[in-house]
Amino acid sequence: MTKENSSRLPGFYNLSPYERKKLLANLLDLSKDQFEALGGNAGLNVEQADHMIENAIGIFGLPLGIATNFVVNGKDVLIPMVVEEPSVVAGASFMAKLVRHSGGFQAETIGSEMIGQIQVLDISDLEIARDALFEHKEEILAEADKVDPLLKQLGGGARDLEIRIFPETPIGPMLIVHLIFDTRDAMGANTVNTAVERLTPSIERLTEGRVHLRILSNLSDRRLARSRCVIPQNVLNFNSFEGEQVRDGIVEAWAFAAVDPYRAATHNKGIMNGIDAVLIATGNDWRAVEAGAHAYAARAGRYTSLSEWRVTEDGSLEGVLVLPLAVGTVGGATRVHPTAKAALAMMGIDRAQELAEVIASVGLAQNLAALRALATEGIQRGHMSLHARQVAIAAGAAGQDIERVAQRMIDEGTIRIDHARQILKDGKKS
Ligand code: MEV
Repeated sequence: MTKENSSRLPGFYNLSPYERKKLLANLLDLSKDQFEALGGNAGLNVEQADHMIENAIGIFGLPLGIATNFVVNGKDVLIPMVVEEPSVVAGASFMAKLVRHSGGFQAETIGSEMIGQIQVLDISDLEIARDALFEHKEEILAEADKVDPLLKQLGGGARDLEIRIFPETPIGPMLIVHLIFDTRDAMGANTVNTAVERLTPSIERLTEGRVHLRILSNLSDRRLARSRCVIPQNVLNFNSFEGEQVRDGIVEAWAFAAVDPYRAATHNKGIMNGIDAVLIATGNDWRAVEAGAHAYAARAGRYTSLSEWRVTEDGSLEGVLVLPLAVGTVGGATRVHPTAKAALAMMGIDRAQELAEVIASVGLAQNLAALRALATEGIQRGHMSLHARQVAIAAGAAGQDIERVAQRMIDEGTIRIDHARQILKDGKKS
């Protein structure tokens, strides 16, 4: 989106889904197909689904929302998020609005290399095998490159070999080859898996061992994304809470996650609430990113927070999030799923690095939203209105009854399905 097209859309929240979609279509010049795909009238059909997975019988729907207010590296971006949990889209949008005060998120990617692993067993001398592999490194890399000549032309391809030796494992000595592969704008699982399978005969010949597993690692720590934001203290004032109190409360909340894995799991889950939502909207493999994120959080031997929050010298709050983000803008569902294609087009993103920078920024915003709520009024109040509506629907409310039942449950401070059913029943009697 251009500078004139700001991601700041006051009042967006109050529009109907159709009006929101219309506004976006005008703002972003969406084609009719994109418009329909984003709105749920078109999108993935059963025939396409049948080509994606086995035994397909239908399509499963989830809400698609738009996070507003984001500025990432000076560029305004409206962010599609697919998520069933209330408060996620609102939380990210609201925090992005606070971060706008200081120019938005600054994000970067560090590397675009994936790791393919080859497990080699039955080696009589691990050191000799390792030396033989290193001696023939260039040959091995050239062979790996043959799996995708186009990727090579685009500047990607096999970059390096790493050898890891495990003299003692439950089944005896083991040598692991890491094929380091730059997959550019693709997530790269298929390319890397094809490459490591292709290398089997060469690796067996050189090591005089037996190749067993050949598969990419989801701990893609050579493909990190980092996002940073700074929020002036006064911008953090809210309700009866002073900015200074909110800022310090957020740092205290982060410190809890930094030292305690029980808290870190929940803290990181909050980060992934935002990250997964954009991954799903753009057709990316969210399980791969989840696996990589949590493994990365435990890289020092103890599971900890993926983000860091601190007070800067001028008293502002600074947050930084770093995590592996193996995402693609080509290949896989990103180019097959009509809604994912439209979501990427809507963001105006065609480079995987830029997508990773935006996604890391959403993760940081989501973390800030959770910590700010937890460190002040708690998260339940913010959750109430949408949660109450969900409970009302689950109890059988439809149309205007949804709002009526939800509001009454909020007013009475009891949001439970049995209570919603009772309100519905009372309404029918009167
Ligand atoms: C809920 O989905 C996410 C939070 O639990 C995250 C957190 O505790 O930081 C609110």
